Amino acid sequence: MFQLKWIWKNLKGDRLKFIFGLFLSVVSSLIVIVTPIITATIVDEVVTPSLQSGVLTDQAANRLITLLVVSIGVVAARALIQYGMIMCLEYASQNLILRLRTTLYERISTLDMNFYDHNRAGDLMTRLTGDLDLVRHTIAWISYNFVNCVVLFFTTLVYFCTVNIWLTLALLTVLPIILFLTRSYSSKVRPMYTDLRERLAELNSTAQENIAGNRVVKAFAQEQAEIDRFVEKNGAFRSANLTPQFLWLRYYPVIETLVQSLPVVTLFLGGLFIINGEMTLGELTAFSGLTWTLSAPMQMLGPLLTDLQRFFASANKVIEIYYAQPRVMDRYNAKEMDQVKGKIEFRNVSLKLGKSEILKNVSFTAQPGQTIGIMGETGSGKTTAINCLARFYDVTDGAILVDDVDIREWKLRQLRGSIGTAQQDVFLFSDTAEGNIAFGSMDIPLEEVVRCAEVADADQFIRRLTDGYDTIIGERGVGLSGGQRQRISLARALAIRPPILVLDDTTSAVDMETEQKIQKGLRELDFPCTKLIIAQRISSVKDADQILIFKNGTIVEEGTHQELLDKDGIYTEIFRIQSEGMGLSDRKEVE
Ligand SMILES: Nc1ncnc2c1ncn2[C@@H]1O[C@H](COP(=O)(O)OP(=O)(O)OP(=O)(O)O)[C@@H](O)[C@H]1O
Ligand SMILES: [Mg+2]
Repeated sequence: MFQLKWIWKNLKGDRLKFIFGLFLSVVSSLIVIVTPIITATIVDEVVTPSLQSGVLTDQAANRLITLLVVSIGVVAARALIQYGMIMCLEYASQNLILRLRTTLYERISTLDMNFYDHNRAGDLMTRLTGDLDLVRHTIAWISYNFVNCVVLFFTTLVYFCTVNIWLTLALLTVLPIILFLTRSYSSKVRPMYTDLRERLAELNSTAQENIAGNRVVKAFAQEQAEIDRFVEKNGAFRSANLTPQFLWLRYYPVIETLVQSLPVVTLFLGGLFIINGEMTLGELTAFSGLTWTLSAPMQMLGPLLTDLQRFFASANKVIEIYYAQPRVMDRYNAKEMDQVKGKIEFRNVSLKLGKSEILKNVSFTAQPGQTIGIMGETGSGKTTAINCLARFYDVTDGAILVDDVDIREWKLRQLRGSIGTAQQDVFLFSDTAEGNIAFGSMDIPLEEVVRCAEVADADQFIRRLTDGYDTIIGERGVGLSGGQRQRISLARALAIRPPILVLDDTTSAVDMETEQKIQKGLRELDFPCTKLIIAQRISSVKDADQILIFKNGTIVEEGTHQELLDKDGIYTEIFRIQSEGMGLSDRKEVE
């Protein structure tokens, strides 16, 4: 039941509204019983005497009018109370969800790469939407119905006992059977709803991935295969929905028959009691009018338990994120540096992700302002090494130091704010070109945005877009060429004027001429900056102060361009191959 405790904790600020809403729900349920009691009084005090005497006396007529007015008043009061109740419960539940959704979004945003490596976007979206909505549904609907059922049932029970205890006991004989059946149903249905929740997340993830990857799907003409995959997940979701319904249908006829037998029992036994003079006609009318308030809670028990099981399945998913802690976070005494100079030192760095060792004993030092070129075959650990610098992953062995301080001692925000990264897998937001460049420093003036775009050689093509810097770039940068996206990503990295600049394959899709312009711009930056440049082309790194060659997660060669050529190793081999293919191997950017 910790899920309910968790809800109570998060209701803070709206608890009064919630309690008051439930209180109004109790009052509104209590009122339900008044109308049949009034009806009974009308039958006993107006109808029966009039039938017996054959005349409707003035006194009886007045009594009838008074009782009818009271009856209408009660109905109106109940409507008002229900209005207040819905307002209270809606406000309390919507406020709760507002807070929870924000908290959950904050959590998801601050969780580390490891979390994103293991959670699909579609599943996370399900938690933020469908799962949270079920939590809201519980607060606003299930709680109200539960209170309503309990109050109706016990109030009626007490009233019935005061009128005729034997008839009441006769009606209650079905209760143990119904309780037994719903309990059995409830225990069987719980895993079904956990499964249903998983099927929904899979359905959402499949749809989300198909939409996000629609270009790949189209390029490989895999639309039909993807539709088939979706249809399969959709079918699985349907089956998962039907299974608990079918289970309920196995119990439902028995429960319904028992419940529907109650009015018959009332009429039969009530009739006998009237004949024996142990009950008045009015009392039997009230009994008949109120039998449903005993039977409805019994009927509702199954569906309410169903909703409750769905709530538990969804709440567990939400709570998982709510209490998730990033592995990478600030230490309690994390340092705030006065000024970042940009010295980087990898000291015997090793990294294990799962069972595989991705980096092994990587060591190098970059002095402030230096440029380090990084090359190496694909999958050799270049991107992972710079991911460790930004603490996307914490190293398993050794240490990374920036300005001679272990990065785990740094305030994470300051560390990441000091590293401008143009990532290999460029991601652009659905925003203007200006908005995308100024992403890391929203308040910089347009001139600064333009200046960064100029260094990245992006200014010219941005100006040629329909609305220049105000052109909205499609989701993930659709509408731009690969090289254009890389250049916007470079401008974005420069816009925060970082003391450390990391370029991961950033010029791989631009032509040699453009690359040279960019290199010139980078050499002439108007702020001090240490640069780590990962590249495939010798031309991108040959002027670096130091070039590192990665292989299988470790550095196998290092030195300047000339030193490495003298070594006659892997670098020389790459140099030879690229020199031979010069002019042919260059990818020309198509704009
Ligand atoms: N999150 C991860 N979990 C497990 N293994 C990973 C993860 N990220 C990367 N790897 C593995 O680590 C190795 C190095 O990957 P990395 O991305 O660093 O290579 P790279 O040198 O940047 O390659 P490329 O030149 O193709 O970009 C690869 O074998 C990759 O499969
Ligand atoms: Mg890489």
